[in-house]
Amino acid sequence: MDGGIRENDISRIVELDREHIWHHLTQHKPFETGEPRVIVEGKGMRVWDQKGKEHLDAVSGGVWTVNVGYGRESIANAVRDQLIKLNYFAGSAGSIPGALFSEKLLEKMPGLSRVYYCNSGSEANEKAFKMVRQIAHKRYGGKKYKVLYRDRDYHGTTIGALSAGGQDERNAQYGPFAPGFVRVPHCLEYRAQWDLTGEAYGQRAADAIEEVILAEGPDTVGALCLEPVTAGGGVITPPPGYWERVQEICKKYDVLLHIDEVVCGIGRTGTWFGYQNFGVKPDMVTMAKGVASGYAAIACLVTTEEVFSMFKDDASDPLNYFRDISTFGGCTAGPAAALENMRIIEDEGLLENTLNMGKRLIGNLDALAEKHSVIGDVRGAGLFCGAELVKDRTTKEPAEEKMVQAVVADCMAQGVVIGATNRSLPGYNNTLCFSPALIATTDDIDAITDAVDQALSRVFS
Ligand SMILES: Cc1ncc(COP(=O)(O)O)c(C=O)c1O
Repeated sequence: MDGGIRENDISRIVELDREHIWHHLTQHKPFETGEPRVIVEGKGMRVWDQKGKEHLDAVSGGVWTVNVGYGRESIANAVRDQLIKLNYFAGSAGSIPGALFSEKLLEKMPGLSRVYYCNSGSEANEKAFKMVRQIAHKRYGGKKYKVLYRDRDYHGTTIGALSAGGQDERNAQYGPFAPGFVRVPHCLEYRAQWDLTGEAYGQRAADAIEEVILAEGPDTVGALCLEPVTAGGGVITPPPGYWERVQEICKKYDVLLHIDEVVCGIGRTGTWFGYQNFGVKPDMVTMAKGVASGYAAIACLVTTEEVFSMFKDDASDPLNYFRDISTFGGCTAGPAAALENMRIIEDEGLLENTLNMGKRLIGNLDALAEKHSVIGDVRGAGLFCGAELVKDRTTKEPAEEKMVQAVVADCMAQGVVIGATNRSLPGYNNTLCFSPALIATTDDIDAITDAVDQALSRVFS
């Protein structure tokens, strides 16, 4: 544990936390009798809590963020050097790391050419929604303003982003939401809405988007916002044939394709971006979590030159530019950390490692499914995998959320941090989530699935 904090000090930290901190996604009643968890230190794939207990982190900081692992001195040094030179200036001016990172990033995103910096995934998505509305005003008399989003997808926590939120339980009690957001069906074949499989199912799920566009009126639909692989909605890998059709539909109806890469972006699926697994050409891409692996807050909205041009084509119009502000989009720590983060991924071959370790993770989970009938479906891409738990494989009745959480808690007791869909989808918070850092080794992957094996045996015995 951190040499600077002694035993007495750490109990004071825990007390201060219990008294004053309001944790995210947390019911605090249990802390009246028990202790909140405080994470003190991290190195590589592992973190240590206030008791000095070591945990193998299979969820990259809880929410798919620490892609290059903990304790990277080279990122800390890059950030430190940059902060001393210039910590901040508003985004109306440029910065050295901002320019350098944009070049590096765009090398990985052929067809896209402009980077807008901000500081969270929600914020980046809000920017994209604002662009769609402004384009509607400029080009279509304000009419083509609607944003389509998909059942089970998540785009962030703000009211605008929740308005595009496909997780009813996550949204519950936070309405009313903003108008102009319209839901399309999900594409999870395991929970198929149509009696089709494989490519036929994928095309049908995409056709359902066309049906919504036609019902709303194509002249009112400005954009379609999708996660490449749905994350918190249950790790949903799209069926074959889906993305090809989605692209065609967007072209046909002049609908901008906005891909939310907040989770998949920067390597999670073994490609730089999730959409690159499917050969699609987005108009707008948003990213956050793994961009700097959590060493600094940074999010980006990246667009084509065509989208960008619409905001400068008439300089005589006082409203004809993107009139948006992101105070912390001007923090230079973000792009400084992101540059070094990207260098690490390239120099250490982490995309390749992600593909190899992802295969091992899926293979191990498939093997567990042979042994534990409670595993109904295993899915994933790269180091981004899910195992959906069911009471009965034939009926596919979902396992109860409390049993799924018991598996997570059992793994935690064993010193392995895994995740699960939680309070997101009424009746369907039944998917275990795995997203270890891209540096994971075969031993790490095996340790993760061994813990799950033991937990399933105990919880469902
Ligand atoms: C796909 C997706 N988009 C957007 C967000 C929101 O990002 P942030 O929490 O940085 O606002 C998340 C967060 O989990 C996410 O999973």
